[in-house]
Amino acid sequence: MIDVQGPSLRLRELRPADVTGLLAVYGDEAATRHLSFEPRTFDQCEAIIRSAAADATVKPRTVYMQAVADTTDDLVGAARLGIDERPHSGQIGFALRPEVWGRGLGAELVGLLLTFGFAELELNRLWGARSPDNVASKRVMERAGMIEEGRIRRHLRTRGAWRDSVVHSILDDEWTP
Ligand SMILES: CC(C)(COP(=O)(O)OP(=O)(O)OC[C@H]1O[C@@H](n2cnc3c(N)ncnc32)[C@H](O)[C@@H]1OP(=O)(O)O)[C@@H](O)C(=O)NCCC(=O)NCCS
Repeated sequence: MIDVQGPSLRLRELRPADVTGLLAVYGDEAATRHLSFEPRTFDQCEAIIRSAAADATVKPRTVYMQAVADTTDDLVGAARLGIDERPHSGQIGFALRPEVWGRGLGAELVGLLLTFGFAELELNRLWGARSPDNVASKRVMERAGMIEEGRIRRHLRTRGAWRDSVVHSILDDEWTP
């Protein structure tokens, strides 16, 4: 069960009632511009919530697709932590709805994902891959102590073109709770 609380945000399990909130993130052109997929439909968001519930029952659990809730418990973002094949390591992904950008919530969100991965799951390496053009993602990962590790060339094919990714990572002994 995911439950990580910060000053303004909480990571929790997704629920069926989150579908409209999730659509405001994953259905939004600006929020998905740098992600690996095109904007999702309502039905696709429902399917994401269903598969998140299924992933939560797998033992051992390797996929933590989660809601990012505000202080009123409304969904304002989505986050994912996936444990790699070599299970000491996990990849994070995160997005917030555009209405809440620019208030420091992105930095808080990455901090909560690191707390979840290191303090709760006891991983020893966390990493994230961003579009080379995604300056906001670069800043929030750097602020959380995730250093730039290198560039994966032609990492993804999205929106009809190949895209490189820049990888950031942090190790447990570099992390300050
Ligand atoms: C990445 C994201 C979560 C950042 O959220 P946010 O709440 O706006 O971030 P913050 O307010 O904490 O800002 C963090 C830093 O990024 C900078 N920043 C934010 N948006 C920016 C932009 N469009 N261009 C350049 N810098 C930007 C801020 O100035 C701040 O810099 P600072 O640390 O020097 O003060 C948000 O932009 C988002 O959801 N984007 C779409 C999804 C996405 O790209 N996710 C990352 C996938 S790898």
